[in-house]
Amino acid sequence: MDNQAGTILVTGGAGFIGSNFILHWLANEPSDVINLDKLTYAGNPANLASISSDRRYKFVQGDICDRELVADLLLRTRPRAIVHFAAESHVDRSIHGPDDFVRTNVNGTFSLLEEARAYWSAMNKDKEKNSFRFLHVSTDEVYGSLDAAEPAFCETTRYAPNSPYSASKAASDHLVRAYHHTYGMPVLTTNCSNNYGPFQFPEKLIPLVILHAISGKPIPVYGDGLNVRDWLYVTDHCEAIRTVLSRGRAGETYNIGGRNEIKNIDVVNTICSTLDELRPNDPVLPHKKLITFVKDRPGHDRRYAMNAAKIEGELGWRPKETFESGIRKTIQWYLANQSWIEGVTSGSYRQWMATQYSL
Ligand code: NAD
Ligand code: TYD
Repeated sequence: MDNQAGTILVTGGAGFIGSNFILHWLANEPSDVINLDKLTYAGNPANLASISSDRRYKFVQGDICDRELVADLLLRTRPRAIVHFAAESHVDRSIHGPDDFVRTNVNGTFSLLEEARAYWSAMNKDKEKNSFRFLHVSTDEVYGSLDAAEPAFCETTRYAPNSPYSASKAASDHLVRAYHHTYGMPVLTTNCSNNYGPFQFPEKLIPLVILHAISGKPIPVYGDGLNVRDWLYVTDHCEAIRTVLSRGRAGETYNIGGRNEIKNIDVVNTICSTLDELRPNDPVLPHKKLITFVKDRPGHDRRYAMNAAKIEGELGWRPKETFESGIRKTIQWYLANQSWIEGVTSGSYRQWMATQYSL
């Protein structure tokens, strides 16, 4: 795949959003994709099984902190863009053990930026240099928590991260910004709200609720269940990233959200009632009998909401799925993919569930 014009390098492409992005990319673009992923507990090559024989796809197992590996990969494959997903991504895990979050999200992003800068600086054609992009995938959580009456986050909202996860993502966003301001590197940052959809690891709310509901296990709802998240179907996020990569202005940040602000308890009730209809023979019915209020997450952010007017107005992106259509698709996907579930709910998963939930 050496020197192919148009190749993109994706980091963290075996995770939830990264794998959806690669599948979406290959279905819509002619160019090659290289996926650099360390394969932590969250990385799963099975997510990309359907493209394993696609000649445009290449997998490289490795760590973004490994500068020699990254430098060599950039020189050998000469991508026109880096789309950076690789991260530790789960807030609860960041509370139990923040070290990996600082290592990958802060130091890893720094290493990647440094090697990208060396690669980009050495480009000798202006055209190539100007068209290169480093797209950093980030989160709404860097803005902190909103009260019920406050307006949604926009790109100029002050950063106020509250968890080790969001603080590490905020630090990486600042580094990315600095590489544009200081070195003129053509970077883009996207800050997106909560995603859901196929291939999401069942430590996150939506897949965890689906799995517990169908197997008759207690469904843990933190605190009073009234925290609000702004849910976006993962393919809409992937399309937003593709749009920003092709038409976003270098140096800019773009907020992405679904205009789907929903209380956690309402998300859980929607999943339960959909499953009542789709799974009338499950061990516990109605599924909402399984809802169990548990101790709140420390420092739990109350509300997130994204103002996506900039990407909508400037780049014409709009989400295609409503929450109703997206959640039904998602539930149906989990019901149809039991072997995927069995593959990810092995030893280390059970250990995590025992540490986090003593239900
Ligand atoms: P995920 O945890 O499902 O996947 C992360 C991937 O990164 C895994 O494949 C893992 O193996 C890989 N990885 C971790 N450390 C690595 C390292 N040091 N080197 C190389 N690869 C490594 O995460 P996700 O939910 O797909 O999130 C992807 C990105 O999107 C993250 O940067 C996250 O902050 C951001 N984001 C996520 C959401 C969400 O709702 N999930 C919302 C907004 C933004
Ligand atoms: P999560 O999926 O972990 O995403 P994030 O913390 O990044 O928003 O959690 C979504 C919401 O659901 C959040 O308010 C915490 C809550 N939650 C529960 O109530 N129970 C659970 O078991 C989990 C994992 C999350």
